[in-house]
Amino acid sequence: MRVSSNFIVVAIDGSAASGKSTTARALAERHHFLYADTGSHYRAVTLFLLEAGVDTTDSAAVVKALKKATLDTVISGRKALLCLNQWTPPDAALRSARINEHVALFAKLPSVRAFLLAYQRSQVEVARKNKFQGLVMEGRDIGSVILPDADFCFFLEADPKTRRQRRAKEGAQDVIHSRDRLDTERKTAPLVCPKHAVRIDTSRYSLTEVVDLISNRITALPDKGVDEVC
Ligand code: CDP
Repeated sequence: MRVSSNFIVVAIDGSAASGKSTTARALAERHHFLYADTGSHYRAVTLFLLEAGVDTTDSAAVVKALKKATLDTVISGRKALLCLNQWTPPDAALRSARINEHVALFAKLPSVRAFLLAYQRSQVEVARKNKFQGLVMEGRDIGSVILPDADFCFFLEADPKTRRQRRAKEGAQDVIHSRDRLDTERKTAPLVCPKHAVRIDTSRYSLTEVVDLISNRITALPDKGVDEVC
């Protein structure tokens, strides 16, 4: 479905297992948007740093290692994949228990965030150049830091039980509670619901209902059920 002749930028933020990725992927399918998952960027950088033997507490070593990393984008279907030193790590490598344990520790470092900022912003142009109808980018700081001028900004959340069940269903060994704490409490670009974001509790709806709620907003149809603006 084509939403309009204009290019649309949608920012989606939320905590771990709040339903961001599934929602963003479905939105991209429905509206022919390019989909960028910024969590996978932090996961790829984490993999790179761990393989380089860098400790999460050694800021100087992080800066030194990142000087040897180049970033690029490969498009697969509607998904923008980060290519680090000309390698696109497979999903299984990015979502391992080891990466789950370390990613928030690297993601809280200002040098790591600065390293990814321009790359993440550049995805708007990547989407335009590749003739997508828009970009949907999801993460923790998209509406607050990366794309504060996005046309639409959503913040997804879900109750703790639903989030635990979702992760267990994926068969993933994850530390969502400690990642959420690190993500919320860090000084640089913490996980926040931006003031202008529309907050949606995804435990109350099916995936299709959440995608409908967001689609109705971006196509300016009246909707029901969106909780509130932050
Ligand atoms: O899939 P899930 O929501 O569990 O995590 P993710 O989106 O893959 O993100 C993994 C980790 O990357 C998060 O716990 C954050 O520490 C970090 N991250 C971030 O700091 N900023 C973003 N925009 C996206 C992810």
